[in-house]
Amino acid sequence: MTNMSQVYLNGEFLPPDQARVSVFDRGFIFGDGIYEVIPVFGGRLFRLPQHLARLEASLAAIRLHNPHTAQEWSGIFTRLLAQEPRADRDTETGTGDHSIYLQVTRGVAARDHAFPQNVTPTVFAYAQPLKYSPPEQLAQGVAAVTTEDIRWSRCDIKSIALLANALLRQQAIEQGAAEAILVRDGVVTEGAASNIFIVKKNRLLTAPKGTYILPGITRDLVVEIAGANDIACDELPVSIEALHAADEVWMTSSTKEILPITRIDGHPVGKGTPGPMHARLFALYKEYKQAFIRGKVD
Ligand code: PDD
Repeated sequence: MTNMSQVYLNGEFLPPDQARVSVFDRGFIFGDGIYEVIPVFGGRLFRLPQHLARLEASLAAIRLHNPHTAQEWSGIFTRLLAQEPRADRDTETGTGDHSIYLQVTRGVAARDHAFPQNVTPTVFAYAQPLKYSPPEQLAQGVAAVTTEDIRWSRCDIKSIALLANALLRQQAIEQGAAEAILVRDGVVTEGAASNIFIVKKNRLLTAPKGTYILPGITRDLVVEIAGANDIACDELPVSIEALHAADEVWMTSSTKEILPITRIDGHPVGKGTPGPMHARLFALYKEYKQAFIRGKVD
């Protein structure tokens, strides 16, 4: 933490140990805020318009005005990235890649559940090197466990109140797994911090958008890439039975990209190794990413 370069807080760029937030910030007291995580590949903000659109949707859902225009957000991110070493180099090895974390809370006010009047939102952002999954995880896949989705019913809001997600992820870790696959009324929603895809007979299947999942930017890209390459992909409810009978299971997120899950609840998924559809989709994803880095796609 201490060797991190400057962070952005409420209009200022400061060393992290000089950035201070009030103990009465509603983010701290109520978890009253939202966040985004944006990957930066080869120095370029990946799918920035999509991330800013989701940010806008999260803010609207908690009835906060967006404190910045898209141009202002870009300016903040660019300045944070400019201080990062090698932001536009060594992309092949991943060492030049970053992620931007940003959060907006309702601001500082005396503790009262009802919204305060005329309060200024607290805006915080920083850049950090992107930690890619170790190559052995990509080669072998990771383990997951299924758990009841104990979260609220507005999982489409990228809320900073992540207690349930943290409890669920920790439960997975303590069972020797990398992710918790969440199940609501017999239906797979998503992971504790990822979206879930299954593959059956060369068809992809992932949960439909709605209030029970976060509309993942990586999820949308996988759906888009599948569509562009004549790979069948359904956005329909995924039953727990379908999950257990799947040929392949993947988790997707901005930081984990497309990671195969090869064991669920102690049982192998399909053959217990990453499958051919993952190899195909991941190759297409990496192609897209390289085209983006070279400025060939937006
Ligand atoms: N989490 N679902 C949940 C609950 C998530 O927290 C995330 C991402 C995703 C995937 O969304 P995207 O593809 O846009 O990253 C789905 C981020 C990375 C995090 O909390 O760190």
